[in-house]
Amino acid sequence: MRVSKNIEELIPYQPGKPIKEVERELGVKECIKLASNENPFGTSPKALQAVTALLSNANRYPEGGCFYLKQKLAKYLGVAENSLVFGNGSNEIIELLIRTFVQPGEEVLYFDPSFAVYPIIAKAADRDFRGVPLRKDTFEMNPDDLLAAIQPQTKVIFLTTPNNPVGNYIPRADLEKIILGTPQHIIIAVDEAYIEYATEPECQSVIDLVATHENVIVLRTFSKAYGLSGYRIGYSVSSPQVADYLNRVRQPFNVNLLAQTAAEAALDDDEFLAVTLNGNSAGMNCITNHLRELGISWVPSQANFILIDARGNGADVFQGLLREGVIVRHIPHPMIRDYIRVTIGTAAENKTFLTKFEQVLRTLGRL
Ligand SMILES: Cc1ncc(COP(=O)(O)O)c(C=O)c1O
Repeated sequence: MRVSKNIEELIPYQPGKPIKEVERELGVKECIKLASNENPFGTSPKALQAVTALLSNANRYPEGGCFYLKQKLAKYLGVAENSLVFGNGSNEIIELLIRTFVQPGEEVLYFDPSFAVYPIIAKAADRDFRGVPLRKDTFEMNPDDLLAAIQPQTKVIFLTTPNNPVGNYIPRADLEKIILGTPQHIIIAVDEAYIEYATEPECQSVIDLVATHENVIVLRTFSKAYGLSGYRIGYSVSSPQVADYLNRVRQPFNVNLLAQTAAEAALDDDEFLAVTLNGNSAGMNCITNHLRELGISWVPSQANFILIDARGNGADVFQGLLREGVIVRHIPHPMIRDYIRVTIGTAAENKTFLTKFEQVLRTLGRL
């Protein structure tokens, strides 16, 4: 069977290991998963109720353009309805952006490391891609480095803030500098998958800049703070023109009925969002306080995960934790090889992680 060179060479995205797989393969019981930046506090009860009520209506296709959700979200965000596009997760919007706007010979640009999906989708579409390295040691996403990297063939720039897998962010002033310094034919996609968790005043959404900058598009998701990872729904806010092009390319019923319904109900569930955000702050404090006591460093995070110093190759700590039934993430990128990325869990999960982490570090002679 013949495929094109880019597909032959494509290394697919490696998701966090599923709990059942680890339990099956390693024979461990009651595994906890802190590997995919999911919401450990469950799903909004309102979303659950709404979805349960329509389970028997799935013989009909869903609203093609998420009509009711679009109305509701537009009001919620204070944006025009024709600026919104919905996707099967924000992953789909990333794919739509690359397929819609990047022609052969043009390239996708992003800070490196950031979300691994950007280069994978570019590669799958046989488009060029290039990472602008984060500043060494500080992991800063420096605006001048990015602006200097722009080339005539650059077409879409992804800016991830807060940044996965590091947890840091691009301050508002730096985002404005990048937006103002970028030629207007280049699409700037600001990926705000974790923005709801941010507490630093300078870690801000740029949705307000979409109205005045036709080339700026903000990507958001219901997978994280809204707890709907399994339903698969995300969206973008952009100029109506960009939204129109994306809507032409997307499949007619790309967001399923349950996802649309769950998202609509989740927008009404302030209580669940508050439980999530408060739980995340408490968990972040618990973990960082404990790390401080142990003398272990970490990268300050504005998200629902944290990059922790593994005091040597993080792969060993990842494996050690796996054997103890704790699934975290080691990202095989040279800049963060000696770290593990850990999703903030429930209070009990955080406690288990800290106990096992300390144990694994001692076993490895790193503590
Ligand atoms: C930075 C970033 N963007 C986008 C996504 C994709 O989210 P989803 O497709 O679930 O909406 C993720 C998920 O981990 C992410 O970390």
